[in-house]
Amino acid sequence: MHGDDRDLDDASGSARRLIRELRQRLEGLHRAGVRDLPRPNWIEPVRTDDPVPPIFPQAPAAAAGHAVEQPPRPAGDLPTRKPAPGPALAATSLFQEPGFETAPLPLVERPSILRVLAEEVAICTKCANLAATRTQTVFADGSPTARLMFIGEAPGADEDRTGIPFVGRAGQLLTDMITKGMGLKRQDVYIANILKCRPPENREPSGEEAANCLPYLERQIDIIRPEFICLLGRVAVQYLLGTTLSMGKLRGKWYRYQGIPTIVTYHPAYLLRNPVAKKDAWEDLQILMNAMGLPVPSRKKGQD
Ligand code: URA
Repeated sequence: MHGDDRDLDDASGSARRLIRELRQRLEGLHRAGVRDLPRPNWIEPVRTDDPVPPIFPQAPAAAAGHAVEQPPRPAGDLPTRKPAPGPALAATSLFQEPGFETAPLPLVERPSILRVLAEEVAICTKCANLAATRTQTVFADGSPTARLMFIGEAPGADEDRTGIPFVGRAGQLLTDMITKGMGLKRQDVYIANILKCRPPENREPSGEEAANCLPYLERQIDIIRPEFICLLGRVAVQYLLGTTLSMGKLRGKWYRYQGIPTIVTYHPAYLLRNPVAKKDAWEDLQILMNAMGLPVPSRKKGQD
Protein backbone atom coordinates (compact mmCIF):
# COMPACT_ATOMS: atom_id res chain seq x y z
CA MET A 1 0.00 0.00 0.00
CA HIS A 2 1.32 3.49 -0.84
CA GLY A 3 1.95 6.03 1.94
CA ASP A 4 -0.89 8.22 0.59
CA ASP A 5 -3.32 5.29 0.66
CA ARG A 6 -2.30 4.47 4.23
CA ASP A 7 -2.86 8.11 5.26
CA LEU A 8 -6.28 8.02 3.67
CA ASP A 9 -7.05 4.76 5.37
CA ASP A 10 -5.96 6.14 8.75
CA ALA A 11 -8.01 9.28 8.22
CA SER A 12 -11.14 7.39 7.28
CA GLY A 13 -10.47 5.01 10.21
CA SER A 14 -10.46 7.92 12.67
CA ALA A 15 -13.54 9.44 10.99
CA ARG A 16 -15.35 6.10 11.39
CA ARG A 17 -14.29 5.90 15.05
CA LEU A 18 -15.50 9.43 15.64
CA ILE A 19 -18.85 8.71 13.99
CA ARG A 20 -19.21 5.50 16.05
CA GLU A 21 -18.46 7.37 19.29
CA LEU A 22 -20.82 10.19 18.35
CA ARG A 23 -23.57 7.70 17.51
CA GLN A 24 -23.09 5.91 20.86
CA ARG A 25 -23.24 9.23 22.69
CA LEU A 26 -26.41 10.25 20.84
CA GLU A 27 -28.03 6.88 21.47
CA GLY A 28 -27.20 7.30 25.15
CA LEU A 29 -28.81 10.75 25.17
CA HIS A 30 -31.82 9.39 23.28
CA ARG A 31 -32.25 6.63 25.87
CA ALA A 32 -32.07 9.34 28.54
CA GLY A 33 -35.04 11.03 26.88
CA VAL A 34 -33.25 13.75 24.91
CA ARG A 35 -35.09 14.15 21.61
CA ASP A 36 -33.49 17.24 20.18
CA LEU A 37 -30.37 19.29 20.71
CA PRO A 38 -30.71 23.03 20.31
CA ARG A 39 -28.46 24.74 17.86
CA PRO A 40 -27.31 28.16 19.07
CA ASN A 41 -27.66 31.07 16.70
CA TRP A 42 -24.11 31.82 17.63
CA ILE A 43 -21.93 30.10 15.11
CA GLU A 44 -18.35 30.28 14.04
CA PRO A 45 -17.66 33.46 12.14
CA VAL A 46 -16.71 33.26 8.51
CA ARG A 47 -13.44 35.03 7.80
CA THR A 48 -13.98 38.21 5.87
CA ASP A 49 -10.53 38.31 4.33
CA ASP A 50 -11.29 35.28 2.20
CA PRO A 51 -11.22 36.29 -1.46
CA VAL A 52 -14.86 35.30 -1.95
CA PRO A 53 -16.94 35.75 1.18
CA PRO A 54 -18.54 32.31 1.48
CA ILE A 55 -21.87 33.48 2.71
CA PHE A 56 -24.42 32.99 0.03
CA PRO A 57 -27.66 31.65 1.32
CA GLN A 58 -29.13 29.99 -1.75
CA ALA A 59 -27.61 26.56 -1.43
CA PRO A 60 -28.74 24.37 1.46
CA ALA A 61 -25.10 23.87 2.46
CA ALA A 62 -24.81 27.59 3.02
CA ALA A 63 -27.51 27.49 5.60
CA ALA A 64 -25.46 25.07 7.67
CA GLY A 65 -22.84 27.73 8.20
CA HIS A 66 -20.34 26.11 5.83
CA ALA A 67 -18.33 27.86 3.22
CA VAL A 68 -20.04 27.70 -0.14
CA GLU A 69 -18.11 27.99 -3.35
CA GLN A 70 -20.21 30.53 -5.18
CA PRO A 71 -19.20 33.82 -6.68
CA PRO A 72 -20.81 36.98 -5.33
CA ARG A 73 -24.02 37.85 -7.04
CA PRO A 74 -24.33 41.12 -8.89
CA ALA A 75 -26.05 43.82 -6.92
CA GLY A 76 -29.28 44.19 -8.83
CA ASP A 77 -31.77 46.76 -7.70
CA LEU A 78 -32.71 46.38 -4.09
CA PRO A 79 -36.46 46.44 -4.57
CA THR A 80 -36.40 43.77 -7.24
CA ARG A 81 -34.75 41.04 -5.25
CA LYS A 82 -35.38 37.53 -6.39
CA PRO A 83 -37.50 35.42 -4.07
CA ALA A 84 -35.33 33.21 -1.94
CA PRO A 85 -35.42 29.66 -3.27
CA GLY A 86 -37.43 27.16 -1.29
CA PRO A 87 -38.01 24.71 0.12
CA ALA A 88 -36.93 26.02 3.46
CA LEU A 89 -35.04 24.04 6.03
CA ALA A 90 -36.01 23.29 9.60
CA ALA A 91 -33.90 25.00 12.24
CA THR A 92 -33.63 23.94 15.88
CA SER A 93 -31.48 20.82 15.80
CA LEU A 94 -27.75 20.27 15.63
CA PHE A 95 -28.49 17.62 13.06
CA GLN A 96 -30.64 19.65 10.73
CA GLU A 97 -29.73 22.52 8.51
CA PRO A 98 -30.63 25.85 10.08
CA GLY A 99 -33.13 27.97 8.24
CA PHE A 100 -36.85 28.36 8.11
CA GLU A 101 -39.59 25.83 8.52
CA THR A 102 -41.65 27.04 5.59
CA ALA A 103 -41.06 28.14 2.04
CA PRO A 104 -40.64 31.89 1.56
CA LEU A 105 -43.82 33.88 1.09
CA PRO A 106 -44.57 35.25 -2.35
CA LEU A 107 -43.36 38.85 -2.51
CA VAL A 108 -46.85 40.20 -3.17
CA GLU A 109 -48.23 38.67 0.03
CA ARG A 110 -45.60 40.11 2.33
CA PRO A 111 -46.98 43.65 2.82
CA SER A 112 -50.42 42.45 3.90
CA ILE A 113 -49.03 39.76 6.20
CA LEU A 114 -46.70 42.30 7.78
CA ARG A 115 -49.67 44.64 8.26
CA VAL A 116 -51.55 41.94 10.14
CA LEU A 117 -48.49 41.33 12.31
CA ALA A 118 -48.11 45.08 12.93
CA GLU A 119 -51.73 45.20 14.10
CA GLU A 120 -51.05 42.35 16.50
CA VAL A 121 -47.98 44.18 17.81
CA ALA A 122 -49.93 47.43 18.19
CA ILE A 123 -52.18 45.89 20.84
CA CYS A 124 -49.52 43.82 22.56
CA THR A 125 -49.50 44.04 26.35
CA LYS A 126 -47.00 41.29 27.11
CA CYS A 127 -44.80 43.84 28.91
CA ALA A 128 -47.37 45.64 31.05
CA ASN A 129 -45.02 48.46 31.99
CA LEU A 130 -43.97 49.18 28.39
CA ALA A 131 -47.55 48.96 27.16
CA ALA A 132 -48.61 51.45 29.83
CA THR A 133 -45.88 53.98 29.08
CA ARG A 134 -45.59 53.88 25.28
CA THR A 135 -47.29 56.36 22.99
CA GLN A 136 -47.47 53.67 20.33
CA THR A 137 -45.57 50.63 19.15
CA VAL A 138 -42.80 51.05 16.57
CA PHE A 139 -43.04 48.15 14.16
CA ALA A 140 -40.59 48.79 11.31
CA ASP A 141 -39.75 50.97 8.37
CA GLY A 142 -38.81 50.13 4.81
CA SER A 143 -39.46 47.59 2.13
CA PRO A 144 -41.11 44.21 2.77
CA THR A 145 -38.98 42.86 -0.08
CA ALA A 146 -35.70 44.33 1.12
CA ARG A 147 -32.48 42.45 0.51
CA LEU A 148 -31.00 43.99 3.63
CA MET A 149 -32.44 44.31 7.12
CA PHE A 150 -31.02 46.52 9.86
CA ILE A 151 -31.88 45.62 13.43
CA GLY A 152 -31.42 48.03 16.31
CA GLU A 153 -32.26 47.96 20.00
CA ALA A 154 -35.49 49.75 20.86
CA PRO A 155 -37.38 52.93 20.01
CA GLY A 156 -36.37 56.16 21.70
CA ALA A 157 -38.47 59.27 22.34
CA ASP A 158 -38.62 60.37 18.68
CA GLU A 159 -39.58 56.90 17.50
CA ASP A 160 -42.20 56.56 20.23
CA ARG A 161 -43.69 59.87 19.08
CA THR A 162 -43.66 59.11 15.34
CA GLY A 163 -44.09 55.33 15.31
CA ILE A 164 -41.12 55.00 12.93
CA PRO A 165 -37.78 53.41 13.91
CA PHE A 166 -34.55 55.35 13.73
CA VAL A 167 -35.84 58.87 13.12
CA GLY A 168 -33.97 60.72 15.91
CA ARG A 169 -30.31 61.76 15.84
CA ALA A 170 -29.10 58.15 15.74
CA GLY A 171 -31.67 57.51 13.04
CA GLN A 172 -30.35 60.38 10.96
CA LEU A 173 -26.88 58.89 11.19
CA LEU A 174 -28.21 55.46 10.21
CA THR A 175 -29.99 57.07 7.24
CA ASP A 176 -26.70 58.70 6.21
CA MET A 177 -24.89 55.37 6.53
CA ILE A 178 -27.48 53.78 4.24
CA THR A 179 -27.77 56.58 1.71
CA LYS A 180 -24.45 58.43 1.68
CA GLY A 181 -22.32 55.46 2.76
CA MET A 182 -23.92 52.53 0.95
CA GLY A 183 -25.57 54.44 -1.87
CA LEU A 184 -28.99 52.91 -1.13
CA LYS A 185 -32.35 54.44 -0.42
CA ARG A 186 -33.61 54.14 3.13
CA GLN A 187 -37.00 52.95 1.86
CA ASP A 188 -35.36 50.02 0.06
CA VAL A 189 -33.93 48.42 3.20
CA TYR A 190 -35.96 47.18 6.17
CA ILE A 191 -35.35 48.62 9.62
CA ALA A 192 -36.62 47.07 12.85
CA ASN A 193 -35.70 46.77 16.50
CA ILE A 194 -35.43 44.08 19.16
CA LEU A 195 -38.19 45.86 21.13
CA LYS A 196 -41.28 47.45 19.58
CA CYS A 197 -41.92 49.68 22.60
CA ARG A 198 -39.83 52.44 24.05
CA PRO A 199 -38.29 51.47 27.39
CA PRO A 200 -38.91 54.33 29.86
CA GLU A 201 -35.92 56.68 30.22
CA ASN A 202 -34.42 54.88 27.21
CA ARG A 203 -33.07 52.20 29.51
CA GLU A 204 -31.73 48.98 28.04
CA PRO A 205 -34.36 46.31 27.32
CA SER A 206 -34.61 43.70 30.05
CA GLY A 207 -34.13 40.04 29.17
CA GLU A 208 -37.81 39.42 29.81
CA GLU A 209 -38.88 42.26 27.51
CA ALA A 210 -36.56 41.03 24.79
CA ALA A 211 -37.90 37.48 25.16
CA ASN A 212 -41.48 38.76 24.96
CA CYS A 213 -40.82 40.82 21.86
CA LEU A 214 -38.39 38.61 19.95
CA PRO A 215 -41.07 36.38 18.41
CA TYR A 216 -42.40 39.43 16.53
CA LEU A 217 -38.98 40.19 15.08
CA GLU A 218 -38.47 36.54 14.24
CA ARG A 219 -41.71 36.62 12.30
CA GLN A 220 -40.68 39.81 10.51
CA ILE A 221 -37.42 38.14 9.48
CA ASP A 222 -39.26 35.00 8.44
CA ILE A 223 -41.71 36.99 6.31
CA ILE A 224 -39.08 39.16 4.66
CA ARG A 225 -36.27 36.62 4.37
CA PRO A 226 -33.66 39.30 3.81
CA GLU A 227 -30.51 38.16 2.06
CA PHE A 228 -28.42 40.04 4.60
CA ILE A 229 -28.84 41.26 8.16
CA CYS A 230 -26.87 44.04 9.81
CA LEU A 231 -27.11 44.11 13.60
CA LEU A 232 -26.66 47.53 15.12
CA GLY A 233 -24.97 47.38 18.49
CA ARG A 234 -24.51 45.09 21.43
CA VAL A 235 -28.16 44.58 22.40
CA ALA A 236 -29.25 43.42 18.94
CA VAL A 237 -26.24 41.11 18.81
CA GLN A 238 -26.92 39.73 22.27
CA TYR A 239 -30.50 38.76 21.53
CA LEU A 240 -30.12 37.58 17.94
CA LEU A 241 -26.72 35.88 18.03
CA GLY A 242 -26.80 34.94 21.69
CA THR A 243 -23.38 36.28 22.59
CA THR A 244 -22.24 38.98 24.97
CA LEU A 245 -18.78 39.27 23.44
CA SER A 246 -17.75 42.87 22.88
CA MET A 247 -18.54 44.62 19.61
CA GLY A 248 -14.81 45.13 19.10
CA LYS A 249 -14.35 41.34 19.05
CA LEU A 250 -17.43 40.67 16.94
CA ARG A 251 -17.36 43.27 14.22
CA GLY A 252 -15.68 42.72 10.87
CA LYS A 253 -16.81 39.08 10.55
CA TRP A 254 -19.78 37.22 9.15
CA TYR A 255 -22.24 35.25 11.23
CA ARG A 256 -25.48 33.55 10.35
CA TYR A 257 -28.91 34.09 11.76
CA GLN A 258 -31.23 31.32 10.56
CA GLY A 259 -28.78 30.79 7.74
CA ILE A 260 -28.89 34.46 6.74
CA PRO A 261 -25.45 36.08 6.44
CA THR A 262 -25.30 38.55 9.29
CA ILE A 263 -22.80 41.26 10.05
CA VAL A 264 -22.57 43.37 13.17
CA THR A 265 -21.53 46.96 13.55
CA TYR A 266 -21.68 49.74 16.09
CA HIS A 267 -25.03 51.27 16.96
CA PRO A 268 -25.38 54.76 15.45
CA ALA A 269 -25.99 56.21 18.94
CA TYR A 270 -22.60 54.82 19.97
CA LEU A 271 -21.06 56.37 16.86
CA LEU A 272 -22.52 59.75 17.83
CA ARG A 273 -20.80 59.45 21.20
CA ASN A 274 -17.59 57.98 19.73
CA PRO A 275 -17.07 59.46 16.27
CA VAL A 276 -13.63 57.82 15.97
CA ALA A 277 -15.43 54.48 15.63
CA LYS A 278 -17.11 55.69 12.43
CA LYS A 279 -14.19 54.44 10.38
CA ASP A 280 -14.72 50.92 11.83
CA ALA A 281 -18.41 51.11 11.00
CA TRP A 282 -17.51 52.19 7.49
CA GLU A 283 -15.24 49.14 7.17
CA ASP A 284 -18.15 46.94 8.29
CA LEU A 285 -20.44 48.54 5.73
CA GLN A 286 -17.86 47.97 3.02
CA ILE A 287 -17.74 44.25 3.86
CA LEU A 288 -21.51 44.22 3.60
CA MET A 289 -21.52 46.16 0.33
CA ASN A 290 -18.94 43.83 -1.19
CA ALA A 291 -21.04 40.81 -0.30
CA MET A 292 -24.17 42.48 -1.69
CA GLY A 293 -22.35 43.30 -4.90
CA LEU A 294 -22.72 47.04 -4.33
CA PRO A 295 -20.01 49.33 -5.63
CA VAL A 296 -17.63 50.36 -2.87
CA PRO A 297 -15.92 53.72 -3.40
CA SER A 298 -12.21 53.28 -2.87
CA ARG A 299 -12.10 56.05 -0.26
CA LYS A 300 -14.82 58.14 1.39
CA LYS A 301 -14.26 61.86 1.83
CA GLY A 302 -12.77 62.61 5.26
CA GLN A 303 -12.12 58.95 6.04
CA ASP A 304 -9.01 56.82 5.66
N1 URA B 1 -32.18 53.34 18.58
C1 URA B 1 -32.61 52.13 18.24
O1 URA B 1 -31.99 51.12 18.57
N2 URA B 1 -33.74 52.03 17.55
C2 URA B 1 -34.42 53.08 17.16
O2 URA B 1 -35.44 52.90 16.51
C3 URA B 1 -33.94 54.35 17.51
C4 URA B 1 -32.82 54.46 18.22
